[in-house]
Parts: sequence; structure tokens; C-alpha cells
Amino acid sequence: MSGGFGERARAAVRRIVGDGFSGAKASGRGEAPANVALVKYWGKRDEELKLPVTGSLSISLGPLGTKTELARAPDGTSADEIWLNGRPVGGGEGFARRLTAFLDLFRPADGFRYVVRTANNVPTAAGLASSASGFAALVRALDDFWGWGLDAERLSVLARLGSGSAARSLEHGFVEWLRGAREDGEDSVGRKVAEAWAGLRIGAVVADAGEKPVGSGEGMCRTAGTSCAYAGWPARVEADLAAVKEAIAAQDLAALGAVAEANALAMHGTMWAARPPLVYQLPETLAAMRQVWAARAEGVGVWLTMDAGPNVKLLFDARDEGAVHEAFGGKLTVVRP
Ligand code: PMV
Repeated sequence: MSGGFGERARAAVRRIVGDGFSGAKASGRGEAPANVALVKYWGKRDEELKLPVTGSLSISLGPLGTKTELARAPDGTSADEIWLNGRPVGGGEGFARRLTAFLDLFRPADGFRYVVRTANNVPTAAGLASSASGFAALVRALDDFWGWGLDAERLSVLARLGSGSAARSLEHGFVEWLRGAREDGEDSVGRKVAEAWAGLRIGAVVADAGEKPVGSGEGMCRTAGTSCAYAGWPARVEADLAAVKEAIAAQDLAALGAVAEANALAMHGTMWAARPPLVYQLPETLAAMRQVWAARAEGVGVWLTMDAGPNVKLLFDARDEGAVHEAFGGKLTVVRP
């Protein structure tokens, strides 16, 4: 998980911000979109720097994401003061511990504490919220507060240290997170591939909005370490990345949807074969999956993807929105990316 950064993460931050911890503004602000991976990130080659085994590619969720404001806490404050959606978060909570460990990388002096106010506008029940937009918005707020003026790729290196998928949340549209080859992670950055095209829609069907039992960090570590189905995953991803980029360039939703759906199912296949197994699907998840396939058999252009949780995300064209609503009723949230 994200806690307990060591010297290599501190060095990665220093390489980017140098000694840029003077002349702070009174407060800094940042915002960032959530993203849904179309070709998934599942497995790290470096735990501390969160360097991935493969590249990945996502679509950002337009207006849905996180807004964050930060300021310096008064001298003598013993801990960062963290607010989430207007409510104070206790220092013992996982959310605060993870944020504080990350902020430890950005303190000009030992006793320096932050006040962080962060808010997600992703409907919490939609199953689309994630740590990605949170860390991306936080590094944008830090950049504003300290006046670094870093570009999106440099910021993505910082955001990645908080959560891997956050490297894809510094830009709108289609974003690739490059695997990179360097040991220090300097070349493992988020890079915009294309704008989202006008008719594209992302849907979310909620099976369960509660907290997942096994987080993505632990899940990918267990899968890479124990699943006999993992060996074929990296080559699969490389091929899927090439196919998805072609589909994006051609604005070909059927090709994009087919690869994204197959890629997500392949990822979940690696999880099912982990020991002990990782099965995020609930009965409601499987029902939604079958619903997608039934709708498609009837000519509706809709494809599914799933992350480390039970909710099903959909890809479709705006002209099919009525049919998709009909299939999923009140459980569906639709986003224009
Ligand atoms: O960066 P994390 O720890 O939130 O991992 C994300 C893992 C998946 O959502 C399953 C896939 C992805 O690429 O977003």
C-alpha cells in the first residue's frame, strides 16, 4: 500500500521539485477527473515507486472527479488536518493515514503540517470514485501552493507515488500510462493519447457501493505472486494496448469496446486463479454482465469493463443511451467523458 515511503520515493520527488519548498502561496487548489481503464494496470514491478508491469490506458470521466484545496496548518499543529466532502477525517482512519504518508514526501521541515480540504463530485453510490482523481488533484494543489509550474507528465510521476492509476488522471480524454523502463520511474508517465469523441458515453451499474474487501494494491500483489494465469497477462496487455490505440484513432467504438471488455475479463481471470482467489463479482455483477451480453445480442452497442470491485462499467454511444437505460433501469449512472 501507499504508507511508508523510503529514500527512493523521496529521491523521485526531489528530482522533480528540487528544493521548491519556499515562497508558498496562502493556499493552493487543484482538480482532476476520475478515470476508467480500458486496458488495465494489474501488477507492479516496483512496489515503492508503483512502477507497473505493463502500460495501461484509460478514459477520464469529464466533470466527475476531485477538487482539493490545501494550506499550511498553524505552527505547532501536531497532525495534518484533513477534510473529505466537508467532514473532518480522523488521523486513525485509513484515508488520513494514506494521505499523511504521501504528504510526508512534500514537507519542507519536519513539523510542517497541511490543512487539506478535498471533495469528490462523483456520486458516491455510482461506484466510480477512486483514489486516482484524489491523488491527481492533490498534486495539482501542491503544484499551485508551492508554485512549481510542472506540466501534466511531471505531475503524473508525483501522483503515481500515491496511487498508480492516478498517473492517468492529470489529463482529460484518453490517457496512456507508459510502463517506462527506468528504475527511477522518470519515464513511467501519464500521456494524453486523444480527446474523447463527442458521442462516447460511460455508464456505471452499481452492484455494491460499499468498501471492497481486498484493495487493488494487495490484490495485484497476490495475483502476480500466486496466479498461474498471470504469466500470459503482460503480453496480452501489450497487444490490447496496440489494438485500443488503433480503435481510438479510428473512433471505432465496436473495436474499442471489444478489446476493453476482453481485457477486463482476462484481468479478472488472473484474479480467480490467485491463491487464495480474488473474486470481486457478486450475483448482481454477473446479472449485469449477462444483461450487457443480452442487450448486445439484440443489437445494442454496449460493452463492459470492471475494476477491483463488484460494479460494472459500460461503454456505449449516445444514440444507444435510451436502450441502455431500459436494460439497467435506475441502477445506471451515465457520464459524458
Ligand atoms: O492504482 P490503483 O491501486 O487504484 O489500481 C487500479 C487497478 C485497477 O483499477 C483494477 C485497474 C486500473 O488500471 O485502473
